[in-house]
Amino acid sequence: MARTKSIKLVLGNWKMNPVSLAEAKRIIKETKKIAAKLSSTKVVVCPPFQYLSLITARAAVSKALGKIGVGAQNAHAIDQGSFTGEVSAPMLKNMGVGYTIIGHSERRKMGETDEVVAKKAKTVIESGMTAVICIGENVRDEQGTYLDELRTQIKASLQGIARKDMKQVVMAYEPVWAIGAKEAMTPALVHETSIFIKKVLSDTYGQEEGVKVPILYGGSVNFRNARDIIAQGQVDGLLVGRESLNPPGFAELLKEVDSVK
Ligand code: PGA
Repeated sequence: MARTKSIKLVLGNWKMNPVSLAEAKRIIKETKKIAAKLSSTKVVVCPPFQYLSLITARAAVSKALGKIGVGAQNAHAIDQGSFTGEVSAPMLKNMGVGYTIIGHSERRKMGETDEVVAKKAKTVIESGMTAVICIGENVRDEQGTYLDELRTQIKASLQGIARKDMKQVVMAYEPVWAIGAKEAMTPALVHETSIFIKKVLSDTYGQEEGVKVPILYGGSVNFRNARDIIAQGQVDGLLVGRESLNPPGFAELLKEVDSVK
């Protein structure tokens, strides 16, 4: 099954990094320089909340350098109210954020259930942003139990999201065992699993809508493996952790991705 879009989407998930504001500014500036040279790849930086305005605000770092998209790493399921320490989807939308990652495995590990993921994704969509919904098995077994795990997780994480809203959904497939690891999943397995995900989406939303939903791969992507994962893995883009904080490596990675037509 071929990629569904000619434009590739690469999200940089900074997680809880970097500690200093100066370093955040530096990485954004470098990333903008790189992004300005790409022709068929959209770059979305997902920093911690407090750095979002470095990209969205009028006085943003090096505005002249070119455009990058901006994404958050989480949002609360409710629009506003007494939820100390939380940030809501409409707040993010109102400050110019276009994407929000929902249900990353590191948040699921902290107790975020599929039900909460679905509610958060719905709020993100209703606010007018794109929800990047993370899914992925914990381990792979010979019996293929992980496929049932994936199917259940996909369906439950999309509970209550209507077919018409799927235009605002991106699925990020991140096998938990490949995140923060030494090696990414092989492109052949990425391809195989992306077909399975599309099948589950088609069964749920109909063939036409199902195959249109972009699928990203995430988990130990770097400048060495990015090209093959996109070209042979046939996914629509990547969710990149560590390498997105390393501008020289991220620049190479984006160049490689951009060269895949
Ligand atoms: P990694 O993280 O690229 O550092 O493995 C990916 C992610 O968790 O999104």
